[in-house]
Amino acid sequence: MASKKIGLASWRNQPLGITVLRLWLGGTWVYGGWVKASDAAFLSKSGPNSFSGQLTSYIGHSPLTFALRHMLEHATLFAWFVMLSEFAIGIAVLTGVAMDAAILGGFSVSMILWLSVTYHVHPYFLGSDLAFAASWLALFFLWRAHSRSGSRGRTTALGGIIPNLKDRREVVGIMGVAAGAVIASLAGGSFRPKIKVGAAIVKVADFPVGSTMPFTANDGNPAILFRTKAGVFAYSAMCTHQGCTVAYDALSHALNCPCHGAKFDSATGAVLAGPAPTPLPKIGVQISGANIVQI
Ligand code: FES
Repeated sequence: MASKKIGLASWRNQPLGITVLRLWLGGTWVYGGWVKASDAAFLSKSGPNSFSGQLTSYIGHSPLTFALRHMLEHATLFAWFVMLSEFAIGIAVLTGVAMDAAILGGFSVSMILWLSVTYHVHPYFLGSDLAFAASWLALFFLWRAHSRSGSRGRTTALGGIIPNLKDRREVVGIMGVAAGAVIASLAGGSFRPKIKVGAAIVKVADFPVGSTMPFTANDGNPAILFRTKAGVFAYSAMCTHQGCTVAYDALSHALNCPCHGAKFDSATGAVLAGPAPTPLPKIGVQISGANIVQI
């Protein structure tokens, strides 16, 4: 039994708890899709911030490792699927189209992210995916109770969870959501910063052995460059827990995250302490003539 009101009408006379959850979850899912669509790195075939790079860093740390390995073989396809799904779920929840299915979709995505990305975060409340899954579940039961109260006993397949494709308005609504997801994904492309290949990070003469410096990687994200007797190397400076920017501490030779206390080994990128699930991804750099460049 699902409420058939869509658009603005779906927001009228609903309990305040549903309004808060729809705004928060729907808005966050649309924003999540937008962050991916406008990120030059996300759809690239390789790199620490590409979808395939992210999958690689979860493999071996997740109970879904077997499935992640298969996804890696078709990483670009799955990257598009994830981005479109986030837009579609967010738009559907905000517009009230196929709500039960959209809410269950949001719950499923949150559970998959928890099992893939934040499964090992300790204590568990520092990982956001489980909290999102609980919020989706709360919205599901609240929405079902709200729909039942206004349905006057009408029933549909599986009590309204599966969209009723005989209802022309519902079909048009679903097509609108799908079109919105595609348009938003394509629109994000025009906001992607252009990737600069081979741009100089610093002159070799200005960066002697023993130096460290933050820089902006080709994908626009923060990174940290090191030069030791062995050569030059660099890491992404985005904490693998929730993306805060880490900073180098010369006393402990560690990269510290200010948000929840993760520490990474500056020699290897490995996690030394805190809730970060995986090491800092390496960024390829080399000395090229008089400059140090990203490769
Ligand atoms: S973002 Fe949580 S420890 Fe870094």
